[in-house]
Amino acid sequence: MAEFIKLSPALPWIAGQGHAGLVTACAPDRLILESALREKSFSVRLTHITVSLQNDQNFHFKGRLETELYPFHFIIAPEVRQTLQELLGQIRKDQHIEICRSQDVEAEDRFTGFGELSFLPEALPLFDHSEIDTRVKFLGRTFALPILITGMTGGIQKGIEINKRLALAAQKYQIPMGVGSQRIALDNAEYAPIFSVKDTAPDVFLIGNIGIAQLADHDALDRCARAVDMIRADALAIHFNVVQEHIQVEGDRNLAGIMKGLETICKRLNVPVIAKEVGSGISPSSALMLQECGVSAIDIGGAGGTSWAHIEGLRSSSPIVSQLGLSFRNWGIPTAYSLTAVREALPQFPLIATGGVRDGLTVAKACALGAQFAGIGLPLLKAALQSEEAVEDTIEGFMRGLRLTMLASGARTLDDLKTKIIRGRPYESNFERLIPTHR
Ligand SMILES: Cc1cc2nc3c(=O)[nH]c(=O)nc-3n(C[C@H](O)[C@H](O)[C@H](O)COP(=O)(O)O)c2cc1C
Repeated sequence: MAEFIKLSPALPWIAGQGHAGLVTACAPDRLILESALREKSFSVRLTHITVSLQNDQNFHFKGRLETELYPFHFIIAPEVRQTLQELLGQIRKDQHIEICRSQDVEAEDRFTGFGELSFLPEALPLFDHSEIDTRVKFLGRTFALPILITGMTGGIQKGIEINKRLALAAQKYQIPMGVGSQRIALDNAEYAPIFSVKDTAPDVFLIGNIGIAQLADHDALDRCARAVDMIRADALAIHFNVVQEHIQVEGDRNLAGIMKGLETICKRLNVPVIAKEVGSGISPSSALMLQECGVSAIDIGGAGGTSWAHIEGLRSSSPIVSQLGLSFRNWGIPTAYSLTAVREALPQFPLIATGGVRDGLTVAKACALGAQFAGIGLPLLKAALQSEEAVEDTIEGFMRGLRLTMLASGARTLDDLKTKIIRGRPYESNFERLIPTHR
């Protein structure tokens, strides 16, 4: 059974002899056509159609009608399926952005584990707020804040503007920034400007991005090197998203031999490699394997924040895929749990904690559990869709929350936070010990 992606808004198509209409859905091998005239059959057999995107880009397809029943299934000829992949790639990015902007895309339970933690407050001012030191060292560089703008694909229309706004803020606050998957620009160099932010923000520590499935390609090393060169990246994130790829209608499911590929890339690429989950979390055993492969850092990308299973379920018109999206909406190791477990397995390894970090207090908790950075996605995407100022305000809010946590718990440095974090509420255990429950 073919699985379909809903197209909303539908895309216009035209063909010879006055035929025109809308593509309302598509699958990796076909387009679903509705005729503008609501004809219930075509007078000629269609063999060529042209589909247009809003940006006036046209995609030409050769194919055949599977049946003459309405709505029509137009089966794409195998030799032009690559063009359909490209069209789908472009639509997908815009759909992701639109779904993230307008719908609730987070894990339904919002459970990151951070809510179970508190800091021990100190009423006495042990130092002045000007003495707070939020600097952090990572991959040989020093950053002003333990906050990282995590990689997000921008979509075709909005990508350039989103990345530019994020990069300007990253430069201003001296924090690292990731870009979203560069696959589209590796396949077609026309799209490289979406990711090229160093012209705008030359000093920013920029992290490139490519999916793990791409490592199955025979030219994987070349693709990784091109991704780095394309944006003058300082590091390359390789993202793991097995759950997403298996729910996404057009997902990449060929993951054979990728760990060997990862090892080669870590050895031969001229920048550090960061292994990055996107919402399922990393287990200690996976972390140890990644370290053995030679990655330089791990973004544990835990559960509780943006749910890619759910987003892919929302894109699909197939009941099976929608149900999978719902079933797996809360899937994964909660961010704080994954971070704690991986930190125990790898006491000194550089770690980034992404997934459901929504304020500066939570950034402080991630640092207290041993992360070098808390990665922020969705809140910064929403801000970047508004304005440059909105991105700055969002980071400012995170920064103030972090600094206030440090001041109010007597932690002058990020390392000091580790001695102030507790499970539950402050002095809860004393309270339980000192006050009898029964008389
Ligand atoms: C619109 C959008 C696009 C994303 N695209 C990518 C991507 O291309 N590559 C990647 O590694 N992660 C991608 N992510 C995942 C984020 O980097 C991050 O892991 C995830 O959103 C969890 O963080 P959050 O809960 O703060 O949003 C994307 C996230 C969003 C919201």
